Amino acid sequence: IFSDVEEAQPIEVFHLVKVFNEDDDPSKVNLTIGAYRTDEGKPYYIPVVKKAESVVLDGTLNHEYLPILGLESFTKAASQLLLGDITQRQEEGTIFGVQSISGSGALRVGAEFLVKHLKCTTFYYSIPTWENHHLIFMTSGFQNAKTYRYWNEETRSLDFDGFCEDLSNAPENAVIILHGCAHNPTGLDPTEDQWKKIAEIIKEHKLIPFFDNAYQGFASGDLEKDAWSVRYFLSQGFEFLCSQSFAKNYGLYNERAGNLTFVLNSVENVKAVKSQVTMIVRGMYSNPPNHGARTVSTILNNDVLKNEWMNTLKLMTDRIKAMRKSLRENLENLGTIGTWNHITDQTGMFSYTGLSASHVEYLRSKYHIYMLRSGRINICGLNTNNINYVAEAITDTLLN
Ligand code: LMR
Repeated sequence: IFSDVEEAQPIEVFHLVKVFNEDDDPSKVNLTIGAYRTDEGKPYYIPVVKKAESVVLDGTLNHEYLPILGLESFTKAASQLLLGDITQRQEEGTIFGVQSISGSGALRVGAEFLVKHLKCTTFYYSIPTWENHHLIFMTSGFQNAKTYRYWNEETRSLDFDGFCEDLSNAPENAVIILHGCAHNPTGLDPTEDQWKKIAEIIKEHKLIPFFDNAYQGFASGDLEKDAWSVRYFLSQGFEFLCSQSFAKNYGLYNERAGNLTFVLNSVENVKAVKSQVTMIVRGMYSNPPNHGARTVSTILNNDVLKNEWMNTLKLMTDRIKAMRKSLRENLENLGTIGTWNHITDQTGMFSYTGLSASHVEYLRSKYHIYMLRSGRINICGLNTNNINYVAEAITDTLLN
């Protein structure tokens, strides 16, 4: 029965991690997968997460099922983290969260809901975007994958006019995937004025915004600031969906803690929408996992722990900013071909370096430096020990 199955391409980012792990060159550098690393190049088990986990594991809990839509103390706090003071809307039910299998699961459930119940057929994603958006939306039943311009290769900045033009040509009811902050992979976010314009076009053309917010806190180090775009849409009376991941900002990559927030304008629709999301979850994975959500909820619902978490986020983003600065300075001091201001203009975990696929290949084979074929690097993979090596390698690569 399996003889006609065709082999799919490996998932680039996970494939590269595997190849990197198998590489025994002592100078190897991993700038691939979006995971935070310390200055020692190690994964970071955030201390306040460890503390919260000991509360979660205190022995009073059992492994009973959670409600199908998830742990309410978690979904409520997660939606508040995203949207600010929404207690009244949460009480009336017009804003609610659905616990999800991290950000990907939130996108998957949300996308299926849009296809089944809002009859959506077309979605738009930025060029470039996180490579999984396309797969998730197509798997959810969307028929047309369309793109909007985002990265201007020449100027290495946002192609805002192209972005607006493509949105303006989108058909009514098209779903627009927007990165709430710290755009993956470019590290380029619209300014507040640009977001206002984007909102205007979306409203005028009756499009449906679907925010993907996987990096709150990682753009500026300030949770409120990083939520500006989503909160602006809320303030303008939009109905929308937003996925949240707690993989990055809690370092809980494999615990799959996520939330899907629904923002509705009419109380009348709440019951039906919730019941249909319940059916989607029930038919997909039936019931969400406990550990990650309980850990995040413990922190978000305790001011002392939350404060400690925010301080840690600040430390992590400060290190990222320092690495951006240092990479740019190193490249400029070495007289590396090209301009490098985009490294510090960009924000969040990633930098779209502008290096070509052949540069990427050269860096890997000659220097054992790993990055995505698109030239995206995870800035967190840089540290005070390897930054000179990476800058020198890039300088040499551009001469070849
Ligand atoms: C990334 O972009 O590197 C991460 O979000 C990991 C993933 O799942 O692609």
